Amino acid sequence: MIIEEILNLKKEKEAIILAHNYQIPEIQDVADFVGDSLELAKKAASFKDCRIIVFCGVKFMAETAKILSPDKKVLIPQIDAGCPLADMAGYEDVLKMKEKYPDAWIVSYVNSNADVKSISDVCCTSGNALEVVKNIPSKKIIFLPDKNLCWYVKNRVKEKDIICWNGYCYVHRKFTFKDIEKARKMYPDAEIIVHPECEPDVQKMADGVYSTAGMVKRVKESKSTRFIIGTEEGLIYRLKKENPDKDFYPLGKKRICYDMKKINLENLKKSLEEEKYEILLPDNIIEKAKKSLERMLNYT
Ligand code: 13P
Ligand code: SF4
Repeated sequence: MIIEEILNLKKEKEAIILAHNYQIPEIQDVADFVGDSLELAKKAASFKDCRIIVFCGVKFMAETAKILSPDKKVLIPQIDAGCPLADMAGYEDVLKMKEKYPDAWIVSYVNSNADVKSISDVCCTSGNALEVVKNIPSKKIIFLPDKNLCWYVKNRVKEKDIICWNGYCYVHRKFTFKDIEKARKMYPDAEIIVHPECEPDVQKMADGVYSTAGMVKRVKESKSTRFIIGTEEGLIYRLKKENPDKDFYPLGKKRICYDMKKINLENLKKSLEEEKYEILLPDNIIEKAKKSLERMLNYT
């Protein structure tokens, strides 16, 4: 019933629903498109015909959609769905770093707030961070805010001089190398894949390190039939749905991003009905942040 109402409202309001891979199953099922941050950013930039984009994810993702599609009305069903990692790089602190290292490029992970994107040279996601860092002309780089993704990049792009910010994701930080040891004992034939927001020792012990869309691709292509998933638990629903003949287990305990889970069918319906909560950003922030996001798309 509520799903039908959402679909009718969507038509009536000329809206598109985008959802991140960590959203609850009901939201993934009702969305027009489910993806990782990179895919969602590209989708947001590509819409021509809709009037409204409802973004089921956290605020920096909805802001990214607004920056790339400023003429659209971008809504988020729950205004306080934030990302603590993004908040770890504050505007003033980033400005200070820029002053301290004037010849460095600021590479901002898309998990950053819009004002920080506006003073960055380029953005990246976990899906394209390597390519972006390799391809930009600057040798000196300040990479923010996630120190683990920064470690992942620094370890693979030796020719660049990279300073890592000190932020972290509380969800991914909970995976430990002990979880990997236990998983290997329990499922010796399973492939263990983890997100680059996990700690370096976890990344080192895993079979592969991927963004959430990278995991979707890896699972499809791999000959393995069992996988241990080191990222937020929401992705497992999508993996199972798309690969019914393969088995998936969370690495250790199920790890949950509580902000991602703030969105549900009820507040999605309300969001469409009342056209709220609208993402509004100052024009100058949109203009500058857009340059960093467009550069990201151009460097990959
Ligand atoms: P992805 O870009 O891999 O989907 O990651 C986004 C995120 O927030 C990870 O915690
Ligand atoms: Fe932010 Fe971590 Fe949640 Fe991703 S999983 S949105 S990085 S808090």
